[in-house]
Amino acid sequence: MAEQLQQLILDTLDREKEIKDTRTLTIPGDAAPATSQEAQLVVQGALNSLLSKEMVTYSMQEAFAYALTQEGNDIADKGSHEAVVWSVLPLKGQGAPLSIKDLKQKVGDETAKIGQGRAFKNGWIAKEGDGLVKLTESIDDTTRNELAEIRATGTLAAGEKAIAELRKRKLVQQKKLLWFSAQKGSNFSTSLDKLETDLTAEMLQSGAWKTAKFKKYNFDAEGIPPNGGALHPLLKVREEFRNIFMEMGFAEMPTSQFVESGFWCFDTLFVPQQHPARDLQDTFYVSDPPESLPPPTDYYEKVQKVHTVGGYGSIGYRAPWSDADSRKLLLRTHTTASSSNLLWRLANRKGGFKPVKMFSIDRVFRNEATDATHLAEFHQVEGVVADYGISLADLIGFMQTFFKKMGIHNLRFKPAYNPYTEPSLEIFAFHPMLDKWVEIGNSGMFRPEMLAPMGLPDGVQVLGWGLSLERPTMIRYGINNIRTLVGHKVSIDSVEKSAAVRF
Ligand code: PHE
Repeated sequence: MAEQLQQLILDTLDREKEIKDTRTLTIPGDAAPATSQEAQLVVQGALNSLLSKEMVTYSMQEAFAYALTQEGNDIADKGSHEAVVWSVLPLKGQGAPLSIKDLKQKVGDETAKIGQGRAFKNGWIAKEGDGLVKLTESIDDTTRNELAEIRATGTLAAGEKAIAELRKRKLVQQKKLLWFSAQKGSNFSTSLDKLETDLTAEMLQSGAWKTAKFKKYNFDAEGIPPNGGALHPLLKVREEFRNIFMEMGFAEMPTSQFVESGFWCFDTLFVPQQHPARDLQDTFYVSDPPESLPPPTDYYEKVQKVHTVGGYGSIGYRAPWSDADSRKLLLRTHTTASSSNLLWRLANRKGGFKPVKMFSIDRVFRNEATDATHLAEFHQVEGVVADYGISLADLIGFMQTFFKKMGIHNLRFKPAYNPYTEPSLEIFAFHPMLDKWVEIGNSGMFRPEMLAPMGLPDGVQVLGWGLSLERPTMIRYGINNIRTLVGHKVSIDSVEKSAAVRF
């Protein structure tokens, strides 16, 4: 039908040059012209399709008109209730008055009721004895006449006031009229070509593409709605970690900064500039822009000093210092860069230092050889607590509570080394499936060489721990190759089917 309608439009335009009112068209398959609003929408579909091929142009026309309700139509056919009542009564003095009961029987209860009132008001009828008579030989049934006029013309010469009255009586309603006027377009023709939607190999081979007509892109078309999204397993586990931290009263730190400077990622954390982790082989450096904005001068000088000559009871590294290394831009190798920035802000905040418990879960990058369990980017889960007089016992306590909420009840701690923490502890848990103790995190008490230059008050200690998001996710979902969790080999199906996580 759609094509027949398009053809009809083209033929009509060919014959008449213009279609002023598409309501005059008869949609193929229908008997009557397309006057209803729904029919006009069908016509619009056909016009749009022709418009996209530039075969026609069209404009939409709208108007309001009045139409009769069911009752209005009845009255236009048979006369108003009052006229019907009047018509069945005998003229005064020319017969026995009609009793109300007989009137009801003749014209029906409803017409008798409504009609009597109006007929009295109009002075058409009167009471005589127990019955009714009519007073005039002829009447002018304005209601009926007005309704007939509206039915024929869609409006009323008597004006809006009379229409409003009829609308109040629910005899007339307002109706929106919709139609289109169409003209020939720049590609007008009466033959409907089937336009190509794809350039195929066959068309290229045969050369048919040279003469083929292609359908234009419709940039206004709405896309196919996706039938639902699904959270990636990493996001589900991340949410679970978030909940654990929130339950423990931690707040999330801002970490939306993948690019950091050598200063924030390493120097402030008392990582010596000669440390192998800072090598090209371990860290991705950014070449453009060539360097970071200058770090805060006062703090920068203190950091440089503690590295080169020491202070706060430390002898420092006593190794050469390079401003350039400090200003190098890199993809952060750990979220501890953000933690460090946060602690510095905390030390320098207007109202003075306040104890905090903060966490972050975000992406980090390391220039590592990739294998089944390592990628060059992964997520770190990190917790930091800063307060007066906290100790290694608090660190161990926090980690025990934290991992217990993950269902890990037995932890072991092994002394380790981080340039920024002392003591440092690696965290191990027993893995029943693997039947051995596996490393699940890294932690420590931040060193004075890191905290003191920031200006944190005396007696404030900071503890922290970190772990990867990928490792527990792989264990939780029984995944043994990280490439099936992250990257282009991930099956969307497995993401959609991945179960919710509750540790
Ligand atoms: N930054 C450490 C890592 O990358 C984790 C850590 C955070 C360790 C805080 C101690 C304190 O493994």
